[in-house]
Amino acid sequence: MKAVRYHQYGGPDVLRFEEVPIPEVGPEEVLIKVSATAFNPADAMFRMGLLKDMIPLQLPFTPHADVSGVIEKAGESVKGLKTGDKVFAFLDMTRNGAAAEYVVSKAVDVALAPKNISLQDAGAIPGTATTAWQGIFEHGKLQSGQRLLIVAAAGGVGSFALQFAKWKGAYVIGSDAEETFSKLKELGIDEVINYKTESITDQVTEKVDVILNLSPIDPGDVTKLLPLLKKGGTLVSTLNPADENVAKELGVNAVTMAVQRSAAHLSQIAALVDEGVVKPFISERLPFSNLAAAHEKFGQTHGKVLILVDSSLD
Ligand SMILES: NC(=O)c1ccc[n+]([C@@H]2O[C@H](COP(=O)([O-])OP(=O)(O)OC[C@H]3O[C@@H](n4cnc5c(N)ncnc54)[C@H](OP(=O)(O)O)[C@@H]3O)[C@@H](O)[C@H]2O)c1
Repeated sequence: MKAVRYHQYGGPDVLRFEEVPIPEVGPEEVLIKVSATAFNPADAMFRMGLLKDMIPLQLPFTPHADVSGVIEKAGESVKGLKTGDKVFAFLDMTRNGAAAEYVVSKAVDVALAPKNISLQDAGAIPGTATTAWQGIFEHGKLQSGQRLLIVAAAGGVGSFALQFAKWKGAYVIGSDAEETFSKLKELGIDEVINYKTESITDQVTEKVDVILNLSPIDPGDVTKLLPLLKKGGTLVSTLNPADENVAKELGVNAVTMAVQRSAAHLSQIAALVDEGVVKPFISERLPFSNLAAAHEKFGQTHGKVLILVDSSLD
């Protein structure tokens, strides 16, 4: 099969198209014929070696943890999934990923894909939607009628968090670049803040229950968001942490999250997609042959960049 691999950490130029064997399937695993994969910032961070001390990869390595596709083969102990099922998954980032014609995953990480969008578009959902779901509901405990502030609302994670929060019945304020505002309004946002020209702390005049920080601001600036929370409220950050001592003094919570793979969450998300209340914000679709272009756009994208590996699987 064709796979993209890197043999050393580095820039997008380390990505190489190679012929490699189709991976073997263990008893509790499935082999997925890849329809599409999406680019996540973490794919670039792993490729650059920024995470290698914490999470060393076995090189050469095939990146990309988001996948949609069709099950080609299910291991003998797999229950609930079979050959021919259309699926999507957030893959284990430490194993060879979906920048390839086939990928192997633990079956427990795989869910049936939503049916009312194309299988390819489903590839834009797994990692970022799972992060958004866990960020606002599991860590933030967001409830109907509450106020949510999303810092970086138009990225992959933010655009899902916004839609999940509106489905839940929350009021959503989001900051991002001005060119994303029409998309954010289409996705249901209540208030927008232009992070390039406006100060969030000036613009948010009524306190919020939950803050989801998805921006790369430094810990001092994350901490400055804490006074925007109501007493008992929670700031969830996917990047730099807020100062927990300041949080304690203010009577609020500060959490730094690490997303966990969850087929159960993907199934709930697929149901919302099928109900038509959530859709992926796909800003660009690239052919598999141009996968490196997605990596070159690291830090400059809004929504998701989708890589179409096999357009016949749709
Ligand atoms: N801890 C975890 O488990 C976990 C899980 C998933 C993601 N993450 C991290 O969370 C971050 C967000 O992920 P993502 O997939 O949504 O990224 P993304 O798709 O790259 O989106 C980032 C968004 O942030 C905007 N932005 C940048 N600086 C900002 C600021 N100061 N204020 C407001 N908006 C700002 C960007 O707009 P411009 O391009 O116009 O600046 C862009 O729309 C990434 O760094 C990712 O690595 C962590």
